Amino acid sequence: MADENKKRVFSGIQPTGGFTLGNYLGAVRNWGVLQDEYDCIYSVVDLHSITVRQDPATLRRQIRESAALLLACGVDPERSILFIQGDVHQHAELSWILGCYTQFGELSRMTQFKDKSQKHPENVNGGLFTYPVLMAADILLYQTDLVPIGADQKQHLELARNIAERFNGVYGQTFVVPDGYFPKVAARVMSLQDPTAKMSKSDENTNAKIMLLDDPDLIVKKFRRAVTDSGSEIRAAEYKPGVTNLMSIYSACTGKTFEEIEREFDGKGYGDFKTAVGETVRDMLKPIQERYAVYLSDKEQLNGILKSGAEKASYLASKTLAKARRKIGLD
Ligand code: TRP
Repeated sequence: MADENKKRVFSGIQPTGGFTLGNYLGAVRNWGVLQDEYDCIYSVVDLHSITVRQDPATLRRQIRESAALLLACGVDPERSILFIQGDVHQHAELSWILGCYTQFGELSRMTQFKDKSQKHPENVNGGLFTYPVLMAADILLYQTDLVPIGADQKQHLELARNIAERFNGVYGQTFVVPDGYFPKVAARVMSLQDPTAKMSKSDENTNAKIMLLDDPDLIVKKFRRAVTDSGSEIRAAEYKPGVTNLMSIYSACTGKTFEEIEREFDGKGYGDFKTAVGETVRDMLKPIQERYAVYLSDKEQLNGILKSGAEKASYLASKTLAKARRKIGLD
């Protein structure tokens, strides 16, 4: 950490609703790998999750559980900073400032805002609208070079870049303009019940999603119930979205190529294949589940990690915030 030559990475994940296999294979697994090469800062973005009404006790529990799960997935607090967004007050402060350099029209064009306000017409609150500004503050506070994100966050990152460029244009170099980081091997995991839709933690059909903390037997059962396609061959093809999804999950877990998988299951049916994928995922998640239980049970250790993470983050964030305030004339 604090190696001047290393590029800085920042990413965040919301604590609500648990993490799916898609979150893991598509994002969080890479967070661990990135630590070898980059100076990484990871955050449980609790402030982002209150754009939707949350039950206080559940939210409080999920914030800690998410942190424990990130540790179990390989985030190493010795090498990276792991913290809870709301523990570092600079996020909310910079967010206000950046909001004054963001246009209403820009925020109105965010597709996630449009989707979410359509889905929850009863609660289209200001936070939902300015959510991308808070995300920009998260990123810009740490002079981030690279932001690992999924395709659904590309538009928000683009906005963060525009805000940074605009601010730098007015006041001179203040923020690093971040780039997206799209890993070479990130599996896009689709729903097990509708392979044309992304696996989503908010899916009401529990058979459609694998949660990282699902019971081992349940994991295998859900894969056995997974929707497949007509025919009986194990082959990746556009007309076989169900089988292709299972193949990419299997490939992401084992490192095997599609050709190798096709050969492995040549002459076998969907049943054998689905069981094999289920058992592979179950076995891959087992050590994560075990480590999670250890982290969560040691309250003091977890508190210590998060406190020290917040202190380190706050130190870095305060430098950027002070710089922005000076440029504007607030200091
Ligand atoms: N908006 C992101 C999501 O829903 C989470 C997030 C918040 C984030 N702040 C961030 C991701 C900063 C990357 C960087 O997935």
